[in-house]
Amino acid sequence: MNEEKNILDIETVDLDIRTDELIIIDQTLLPNRTEILRLSKAEDIWEAINLLKVRGAPAIGVAAAMGIYVCAVRISVDENAPDEYEVFYREFERLRDYLDSARPTAVNLHWALNRMDKLVKNMSDEPVSKILDALKQEALDIKAEDIWVCKQIGENGLTLVKPGDGILTHCNAGKLAVCKYGTATAPIYLGHERGYGFKVFADETRPLLQGARLTSYELMSAGVDVTLICDNMSGLVMRNGWVNAIFVGCDRVAANGDVANKIGTSMVATLAKRYNVPFYVCAPTSTIDMDTATGNDIKIEERPASEVTDMWYNEPMAPKGVKVYNPAFDITDNDLVTAIVTEYGIARAPYSESLKAIMESKENNVLR
Ligand code: MRU
Repeated sequence: MNEEKNILDIETVDLDIRTDELIIIDQTLLPNRTEILRLSKAEDIWEAINLLKVRGAPAIGVAAAMGIYVCAVRISVDENAPDEYEVFYREFERLRDYLDSARPTAVNLHWALNRMDKLVKNMSDEPVSKILDALKQEALDIKAEDIWVCKQIGENGLTLVKPGDGILTHCNAGKLAVCKYGTATAPIYLGHERGYGFKVFADETRPLLQGARLTSYELMSAGVDVTLICDNMSGLVMRNGWVNAIFVGCDRVAANGDVANKIGTSMVATLAKRYNVPFYVCAPTSTIDMDTATGNDIKIEERPASEVTDMWYNEPMAPKGVKVYNPAFDITDNDLVTAIVTEYGIARAPYSESLKAIMESKENNVLR
């Protein structure tokens, strides 16, 4: 239990390098209870990702990298056996595929596990003890990079708004979805530090209420002026002229600029077009998937009906057995996206060209 501490001072995802355990905040209990989980079994890590105890695309990536390391450390191998590497890799591969199956839409899960896998393959001539050291370092590097990436997204996003602006955000692409700053909230946090005095509207985000439970909680904890609204109120606040910009996160950006993000995002984007409010997607390049051509090629996770009918109520709020459709994400077509804000610069339409240029900048490590 950690009730005293400000939520912003607790690491979203961490690795205990003494005990080789993955440490996360159980986000399903927030904001009422702050419980820290220490995980080292693959089944528990899979469940933590699947049940959204740790969630948000970048945080899932970091948790998966640290998670596969803590599992790999527990693979038993005979260091004198000639097939030490083969025995190790067979189990590593199984763990990689298993963790990768925890959630389908956020590409960061796959991206981080792939990065860990590549490292193991490149070290096939080395003793397993050395591979484990490298895996630990890689997981720590992925987390450190996430912090840098979010700060850069914040700096780039801040150029798109001005002091006093009203900003609307959907779901939680905040500190609880990454390791620091958030993506969609990074311009908000940086602006707050610099006295911008933003007025933020947080959509509650049915059915799992990430906006209500997480975004409004973390922004309030930071002292940001935040107002919680139900999802069906965003049109009104835009029509009232209270919103100057919308910042959202994303789970996968296709090569053509179509964006998968929390269910309801495309509705916000459509309203934004109607009311002439710029709609910005904040995307670490680890979330841009150049191998996925369009939004139609992105697998949308479907979740249990009970999340809609029962989960947040004392009594069921729907008739028993009612047919429910519960997609966790939707696709926002690229023509509704004003710009995609990455750590390497801001991409605008046509996205098939601008995203390619952003990925090239990343390869050459040139900030645009
Ligand atoms: O189902 P969730 O809570 O993992 O969904 C999170 C989102 O949709 C976020 O906007 C996205 O992952 C970006 S987080 C920086």
